[in-house]
Amino acid sequence: MKPLEILQQKQQQALKGGGEHRIESQHKKGKLTARERISLLMDEGSFEEIGMFVAHRSKDFGMENEVYLGDGVVTGYGTVNGRLTYVFSQDFTVFGGSLSETHAEKICKIMDLALQNGAPLIGLNDSGGARIQEGVVSLGGYADIFHRNVKASGVIPQLSAIMGPCAGGAVYSPAITDFISMVEHTSYMFVTGPNVVKTVTHETVSSEELGGAATHASRSGVTHFTNPNEVACIDHLKKLLSYIPQNCEDDAPVYPYEAGEEYRAKLDAIIPENPNQPYDIKEVIEEVVDAGTFLEVHKDYAENIVVGFSLIGGRSVGVVANQPASMAGVLDINSSKKAARFVRFCDAFNIPLLVLVDVPGFLPGTDQEWNGIITNGAKLLYALSEATVPKVTVITRKAYGGAYDVMNSKHIGADLNYAWPSAEIAVMGAKGAAEIIFKNEIAAVADKEAKWKEKEMEYMEKFANPYGAAARGFIDEVIVPGATRSKLIRAFAMLENKVVSTPRRKHGNIPL
Ligand code: HXC
Repeated sequence: MKPLEILQQKQQQALKGGGEHRIESQHKKGKLTARERISLLMDEGSFEEIGMFVAHRSKDFGMENEVYLGDGVVTGYGTVNGRLTYVFSQDFTVFGGSLSETHAEKICKIMDLALQNGAPLIGLNDSGGARIQEGVVSLGGYADIFHRNVKASGVIPQLSAIMGPCAGGAVYSPAITDFISMVEHTSYMFVTGPNVVKTVTHETVSSEELGGAATHASRSGVTHFTNPNEVACIDHLKKLLSYIPQNCEDDAPVYPYEAGEEYRAKLDAIIPENPNQPYDIKEVIEEVVDAGTFLEVHKDYAENIVVGFSLIGGRSVGVVANQPASMAGVLDINSSKKAARFVRFCDAFNIPLLVLVDVPGFLPGTDQEWNGIITNGAKLLYALSEATVPKVTVITRKAYGGAYDVMNSKHIGADLNYAWPSAEIAVMGAKGAAEIIFKNEIAAVADKEAKWKEKEMEYMEKFANPYGAAARGFIDEVIVPGATRSKLIRAFAMLENKVVSTPRRKHGNIPL
């Protein structure tokens, strides 16, 4: 054979992965192949493969007779919507996408390139974990990847899509990355599968219940996004990337924006007359961000706080908002963790933050205390205090107690703090406050209920408004709700060149 023919033959061999019958079985499960996924992700004709002929070195268990070019992972670079992006895509048709020493080396090679050249890394994971035939070299390969994930954390964006059953080491690399996206009913994540669970804990559980997309989206919070199928998952990754800069030195994306009528009359009537009646904060978000640009993160997890990306006047902005329609918008362990992680991502990648506040406080009770609401609530306090990106707050209604401080108050470094006229800023709700501070006065009279009500009203009049805070400058301006959007467009434009110098240190010690 001529040299060129040899090359072409090898290329053909590599393209076949684990063989036609395994590709067919992958398709039958409703899954795409590693290469099909890459061609959906990357701009047409832009993908450059690296390491197509890499083969494993294993000689045990008859492995020398089973060699597949590429060794179960396709790696390389290309562009996504015109931007340089690195990708690895595991090939389930080759030993179940399991990770060998050489498979790991391929991934590490493109991770190093991504880090060195400051561009996002996308992992399309479909792997049964460590290649069982290889033993410790496979474990070493995983650790080499984990170590690189950590080195790259906060330097380049790292996105993980889970496209099949991912077990063992195959879930820990995604766990260190910035975002995880799963496919409903065909992807799973677990440290060990249902069979091992049965043996060790005697629990009977299906793969779906143990580690399916719905489980990780709503119960564990391990995945940030779920998608009905692989095509939707890949489309979603591209959309997500559009809000994020290439690396930590880069500015957040700004898209062309034409100013129009920015007043939103709907917001003037959105707060119910009864302060205990809920409303949907997502309706507020939709009114203040550029139309249709809100991309919610962790939609089904800790719904009492809403986080996500948006554009405001064409600028990429991270939104964090208490949700009065879920548990009255209270801060608890899960919502604090969810928001803290999102805030840290935005801060690492220069994405300004908008914080919408309507929070009655922290959730009290033994469940919360025993599970560490103190440490976990502190995560959000820490994350927002630490963030040096432009930070703007709008208090729509309640800002009570410690939650007032935590939710991007002026005191922890917010740049601009707005309040709507409906804002209530106080240590606690009027009823509880009256009971504590007027205890003796209430006890001394015959009609205790009437006295209590009177004192409650007195406290409410004094504190259930934004003007005490505005008088001290803790609130910069009390604004007409309908004007919020135009205020925000100007505020983020004004803060565009914000510079903060922080003391030299190795790293902070966020309460984990
Ligand atoms: C080698 C593997 C493999 C593995 C699957 N295969 N997992 N080969 N090492 N880890 C191979 C199978 O032998 C099979 O080969 C092909 O991949 C498809 O696997 P099936 O079992 O037929 O597919 P399916 O029924 O869809 O089940 C997928 C699966 C299951 C759920 C992933 O294969 C599984 O449970 N695998 C083992 C998972 C695991 O325990 N991994 C080790 C984790 S320990 P053929 O030739 O038939 O196509 C680990 C340590 C790192 O990762 C920890 C770091 C913190």
